[in-house]
Amino acid sequence: MTQLEVIKISKQEGLLTDVIQDTKSILKNMWRNRSGIEFMGRKYDQVKIPFLKKRIYLDNVIPGKIQDTLENLGFETKEGKRPIIVSKRKTEYGWHLVFSLPPGLSFGQFKQKQDYFADAVRGWVTLERRNGLVHMDILTGALPTSLPYEWRPDAYHKIALPVPVGVSQKGVEVLDLAESPHLLVAGVPGFGKSNFLHVLIHTLLPRALIGIIDMKRLEFAYLSNHAAVTRTEKDALQLVKALNREMERRIDVLEAANCVKVQEYKGQDMPYIVLVIDELAEIRDEQVLYYIDRIVRLARAVGISVVAATQRPSTKVINGDLRAMFAARVCYQVADELNSRMVLGENYSHAAYLPGIKGRAIYKFGLEIKEVQTMYLPLSKAKKLLKNQPKERWTYERQGKRLPPR
Ligand SMILES: Nc1ncnc2c1ncn2[C@@H]1O[C@H](COP(=O)(O)OP(=O)(O)O)[C@@H](O)[C@H]1O
Ligand SMILES: [Mg+2]
Repeated sequence: MTQLEVIKISKQEGLLTDVIQDTKSILKNMWRNRSGIEFMGRKYDQVKIPFLKKRIYLDNVIPGKIQDTLENLGFETKEGKRPIIVSKRKTEYGWHLVFSLPPGLSFGQFKQKQDYFADAVRGWVTLERRNGLVHMDILTGALPTSLPYEWRPDAYHKIALPVPVGVSQKGVEVLDLAESPHLLVAGVPGFGKSNFLHVLIHTLLPRALIGIIDMKRLEFAYLSNHAAVTRTEKDALQLVKALNREMERRIDVLEAANCVKVQEYKGQDMPYIVLVIDELAEIRDEQVLYYIDRIVRLARAVGISVVAATQRPSTKVINGDLRAMFAARVCYQVADELNSRMVLGENYSHAAYLPGIKGRAIYKFGLEIKEVQTMYLPLSKAKKLLKNQPKERWTYERQGKRLPPR
């Protein structure tokens, strides 16, 4: 055999492996990204195999996109081992994938790249580590662009202070304000902060005493017979002072009764109170701010919640320390990533990239973060709804006296 022939043969072999590699990747791509199989004019996205008790998905678009993402991000050990999908199933809202990791890859690496996965599937991805496996929940359903306010007063009777935040790709999101217990609502004007407060107030009226600080507009005036509405700093000061006195009283009573929080307390004299503030940044009076600050810091356990809306989430308006007390956040469109992070936390620039849809927001409670379409309650409808609510204006002016039990 001459040398020339050897070279020739190895060249051919090289060509062959190239062709095989190419075919492999073409096949892989077809397999991964197919959206089901058509058979006699009908499209099938899964087959059930009864004797194997298995369901095989023919539609692989989303898992394929995740695998492509993993590959493109270089999720591979030095020896070329990759995360393996050990189980996958379709859920009502998208997909649930479970990965097993080769030694050398970590859950943290997945977590860091969460946004890449979400962008690849044009949806939302949540990650969880369970039994050493990575569970990936993928939400792909589109959100509605408008969602009318709908609520049965007796719904969610097991939750003390249910607030319908809106719908996410998983369905209706309901926050228990008593658990949170403070809520921050932020975003540039015009996307639905005040509207969200109306929704919250109407839902909670049957369950809590509502105080409102409305410095900017008259839009909460129609609630005057049902809630304690203040529109000047002078009135607001009376309200927050009264709430501070009530807070002190409750702390003493709970201490004497050996209760850690109001939920454990059996007495009737501690109805939930919710202080709603629209446009927090408009309050200039130092004293008012001082008392609000105290309520936010100290009222956690005594059944008094603060819901504050602001278009300026900067530290001037609400310093980082105080902001941390608001466990629940709803953030509409903001000007930039910086503002988004100020409202939602270090890693969350999402609110800067929300679509320009009214009522669209990012909802965060604890570590969970979701895109939501919040409910819309036009003022005319709100006024009509109010006719069904009992008039129960509470008189916070009665200094030191008990608030009326419900
Ligand atoms: N959830 C919503 N869905 C649809 N449209 C909304 C929603 N919330 C508010 N809007 C519309 O946007 C306008 C501004 O809402 P508003 O609550 O006053 O915003 P903000 O207080 O953030 O400035 C409203 O007049 C209403 O037409
Ligand atoms: Mg507003």
